[in-house]
Amino acid sequence: MATSNGAVENGQPDKKPPALPRPIRNLEVKFTKIFINNEWHESKSGKKFATYNPSTLEKICDVEEGDKADVDKAVEAAQAAFLRGSPWRRLDALSRGRLLHQLADLVERDRTILATLETMDTGKPFLHAFFIDLEGCIKTLRYFAGWADKIQGRTIPTDDNVVCFTRHEPIGVCGAITPWNFPLLLLTWKLAPALCCGNTVVVKPAEQTPLTALYLGSLIKEVGFPPGVVNIVPGFGPTAGRAVSSHPQIRKIAFTGSTEVGKLVKEAASRSNLKRVTLELGGKNPCIVCADADLDLAVECAHQGVFFNQGQCCTAASRVFVEEPVYAEFIRRSVEHAQKRPVGDPFDVRTEQGPQIDQKQFDKILDLIESGKKEGAKLECGGSAMEDRGLFIKPTVFSEVTDTMRIAKEEIFGPVQSILKFKTLEEVIKRANSLEYGLTAAVFTKSLDKALKLASALESGTVWINCYNAIYAQAPFGGFKMSGNGRELGEYALAEYTEVKTVTIKLEDKNP
Ligand code: NAI
Ligand code: MG
Repeated sequence: MATSNGAVENGQPDKKPPALPRPIRNLEVKFTKIFINNEWHESKSGKKFATYNPSTLEKICDVEEGDKADVDKAVEAAQAAFLRGSPWRRLDALSRGRLLHQLADLVERDRTILATLETMDTGKPFLHAFFIDLEGCIKTLRYFAGWADKIQGRTIPTDDNVVCFTRHEPIGVCGAITPWNFPLLLLTWKLAPALCCGNTVVVKPAEQTPLTALYLGSLIKEVGFPPGVVNIVPGFGPTAGRAVSSHPQIRKIAFTGSTEVGKLVKEAASRSNLKRVTLELGGKNPCIVCADADLDLAVECAHQGVFFNQGQCCTAASRVFVEEPVYAEFIRRSVEHAQKRPVGDPFDVRTEQGPQIDQKQFDKILDLIESGKKEGAKLECGGSAMEDRGLFIKPTVFSEVTDTMRIAKEEIFGPVQSILKFKTLEEVIKRANSLEYGLTAAVFTKSLDKALKLASALESGTVWINCYNAIYAQAPFGGFKMSGNGRELGEYALAEYTEVKTVTIKLEDKNP
């Protein structure tokens, strides 16, 4: 029997390794309108905006530009779909799960189309979109599909003659504001738990990357979700995004993006109706390499940890602390890795790094690289844009980075590795925890004692030991401190999408 990696259980290899998936050349974009009530609408203002391919800087297409008026219409549809008596509320829990499984089936069927669209819109390597983003989407949809009929309350013993139990009920209309770095994946992180718990949703995808969310709208319709259960309004942050975060009928909002906008979302949420808010914000994640670590593994993980997705990850390993005895060797090997990293056309199967998402991010990254040079970090390789190549930046490594430099404090969101030196565990714990961020941390060591000591001391929502970016639909993800509020994924996510109702029934007679 063949296993999923193409090997055969008796140890004999398959005759042919499975062919790599191929992108669709010249894919026609079909879905560019606002998706409300399972129908496609033009924007009320009549405006459209362009979405670009950051790899070629060419316009892909125009998309309808939603703003407050369109968000109002979407919320009205979502509210109607949520009301008791609506087909969605009458649906039993098992059927809700089945719809999510069927959506996962269609995402699998159209995986190549979705990965191609994602690469066109973001510039990320096609094979990464196919094997990482789409894999994560499908698994997230299936994981939460399985929860739909397992959302249970409790029976609670009290000190009175009553029966007391809880019901975990859906909250209502949920807003999802998503970023451009993993457009479809981070959308399913919000959509799947919201739907499995019985909520309805209004989505505002990032203006840089609206295409996969809109394509998903077509699949939602094809699967047969009742109209209004999912509504998708492409548009800009200060208009459409703000309309979502301040809408009085939206009861909960899930946001992923910058810390700055996270604060605005929370403010708008509290000013409007105190809607519940989960935020997944930035990071300046420490990656600690002890002298006893498997150095090959640590170098490889730290490299992928910071350069993956063009460095545009909230989990980026953007502060690598290396223990003194292995510091020089770690730098030597890391530079070798960075210099070998294939940068280029994201549709080429050999490419590991594409362009940055847009001019604003590109300029921000180059400015931070310049600050590193000026503040006295040692530039080991890279350090500039690729010549004549639009938004591409050379994989950059800085050594001799110190804690006060901007490149050690600010989220770069680009292909820039900062390597710092440490001498003792106490020192590195203090330095790792010294920022207001607390999303992820990684530790490389062969000592169980050190691993557990660091796992308990580090102030972050996730600690990876001898691995990196090990994110699973089953395990919660989120930030300590200013990296966010609440958790996505795992059973923990269900609490973010349900209200707890306590039902107490007075009994006439004392129970025997
Ligand atoms: P952003 O925070 O502006 O964008 C994220 C989402 O928020 C987009 O959908 C955007 O339209 C929306 N938005 C913007 N202003 C809004 C407002 N006033 N009300 C409601 N929604 C609003 O992020 P941006 O400017 O694209 O990137 C800036 C920096 O943010 C990056 O350099 C990076 O450091 C960080 N970032 C972090 C992400 C993460 O995964 N945690 C993802 C994207 C950016
Ligand atoms: Mg784009």
